Amino acid sequence: MRNLCLLLCLAFVIANGVRLTFAYSTDHILTIDTTGRGPEISPTLYGIFFEDINHAVEGGLYAELVRNGSFEHSDPWEAWASEVGAEADVKLMSDMPLNRNNLHYLRIQITETGGLVRLINSGYGGIPIEKNQSYNFSLYARADVPFAGVIRVALEASSGEVCAQGEIEGLGSEWEKYERKLTAVSSCSNARLVLTFDSPGTIYIDMVSLFPAETFHGMRMDLVQMLEDLNPGFMRFPGGCFVNGDSLKNAFRWKDSIGPREVRPTRRNFWGYAHSYGIGLYEYLLLAEYLGAEPLPILNPGMSWQGFQPVEICPLDKMDEWIDDALDLIEFANGPVTSEWGAVRASLGHPEPFDLKYLGIGNENWGRDYFERFELFQQAIKARYPEIKLVFATGTTYSGVWFDMAWQWAKDHGVDVVDEHIYASPAWFLLNTERYDLYDREGPKVMVGEFAAHTGDRRNTLEAALAEAAFMTGLERNSDVVVMASYAPLFNRVGWSQWVPDLIWFDGTRAYGTPSYYVQMMFATNRGDVVLPSSLSNEKYVFLHYKYKHLYHVVSYDSESKDIIIKVVNPWPDTKTCQIVFDGDPPLTGYGQAIVLTSDDPRSENTFENPLRVAPRELQICDITNPFTYTFEGYSVTILRIGTQGL
Ligand code: AHR
Repeated sequence: MRNLCLLLCLAFVIANGVRLTFAYSTDHILTIDTTGRGPEISPTLYGIFFEDINHAVEGGLYAELVRNGSFEHSDPWEAWASEVGAEADVKLMSDMPLNRNNLHYLRIQITETGGLVRLINSGYGGIPIEKNQSYNFSLYARADVPFAGVIRVALEASSGEVCAQGEIEGLGSEWEKYERKLTAVSSCSNARLVLTFDSPGTIYIDMVSLFPAETFHGMRMDLVQMLEDLNPGFMRFPGGCFVNGDSLKNAFRWKDSIGPREVRPTRRNFWGYAHSYGIGLYEYLLLAEYLGAEPLPILNPGMSWQGFQPVEICPLDKMDEWIDDALDLIEFANGPVTSEWGAVRASLGHPEPFDLKYLGIGNENWGRDYFERFELFQQAIKARYPEIKLVFATGTTYSGVWFDMAWQWAKDHGVDVVDEHIYASPAWFLLNTERYDLYDREGPKVMVGEFAAHTGDRRNTLEAALAEAAFMTGLERNSDVVVMASYAPLFNRVGWSQWVPDLIWFDGTRAYGTPSYYVQMMFATNRGDVVLPSSLSNEKYVFLHYKYKHLYHVVSYDSESKDIIIKVVNPWPDTKTCQIVFDGDPPLTGYGQAIVLTSDDPRSENTFENPLRVAPRELQICDITNPFTYTFEGYSVTILRIGTQGL
């Protein structure tokens, strides 16, 4: 057995490089009680928060490559250019629309003597095309008949080189959808979609669209993969302020977001750009299901975002339509196919219920107007669906009078889950890792629905990620109270952003995770199911009157793998050597694994050029004894998985 271990160690050294464990002088002693049990860790503890900000959806996860293909943006010509020859005309029309949600379309007229029109869409700063890949082009069109001509479709490089092309023919007098598969013969990072009209006649077009052939229900596969790698326990969507709107006119209304894409209205969203609902409630539910994450839709409580004055508030006696939306949403997600909304779900292709368990009412709302409206939702929903857990907002701050009032109201009214949003400095996160130690165990549960450490320059540095990781050790240790937590925002399309820092950065073809992304991934993929009591000697130190910790840690046990999981964050430059003592004499296998995120510079960031500059490394560990010594690198997050034969 011993020889086998040595052999395995040697193999690991050759394959991975190994941190062997030697006993030498230690800065700290970490004592783990392997017979005791702390709180069970919520399977939903680490999740994702989804919002269309920074073009996370439009021009992002939503794989549509044509921008403003519906001509419904506030500037109907946004992203379009036209070249109109002498004997031709192009006009924006709205008198015979495709449907009442999609009023604008183009009329193209070419005279009998011939003429030429080219309509050019540039997507989001160019359309990336890859050689040999297929793309699904479609548009709605009709013509004044008889019309025997064609519409030529091409993906062109700026040099004029044609990367892919096709033709649409057989136009009739009624709106109809025409589809063509285009296969690229060459690559182009910033192609343009060019529609050419040179057949005499009058043609009308709308809903011009181009998708990569392979998507997940219209979503970019690479970005879905980035989410999958996070192993999220829940998915909160679709916002954020996106849900509130800056007026009730652009509040999230889920019924607008389902069904054929051409009937989903396009609106300017809270973040100032047009949103087509291309990914709507149904697609979000499918995505959550695919990711194995509990879906958590957030609905508007009949109030626009309260950070902007004046707030638009639906009068109390007109709240029925908002409350019905919530009841109908639950029926849409969970109802039998014989119910009205369950039948709609089935007609979209998902007869099985989604087993929705959570629903949020409000985002960053607070004060009496909100409480009154939340209570109406609470009464109506609990009367019909007592099993649904409702999430309640606490405003934009995580402390102060309004926050305390919200908490008091939540306690007095039996709220299930309270949503706290925390954007603060790295120092705040380091100093508040015990925030939830003192929370009432009998009161509402907590969702830290948005959090991120903001450095002075709001960069996605390792420094920020270390502070978040330290804070997360406190979330995990208190997972009997904190049942959900998600970093915010999730996505940023470079060059199209309203908010930094963000978890994942992408452009038309590439994506990379920030150091914060890897922290989320490390915690979520190494969660454990119960906390093991533990203590660290010489834990605290005082700097400028502030009580920081030398190391931040939490220990858990994972009954499936039988691993003890030790998470340790060292946000400081110097290495820390720690003797790890397992009280209770557990049957250690002697093997383990270290997953380490570090860099010698806390200002390090990932980039497209160097996407893995700060990314976790995995090392195998042999000869783990009780006790054993481990040295935690400076500026590091370390997860030690210690094999046991079962506790
Ligand atoms: O995460 C970005 C924004 O921050 C969210 O939309 C909002 O809830 C918060 O103010």
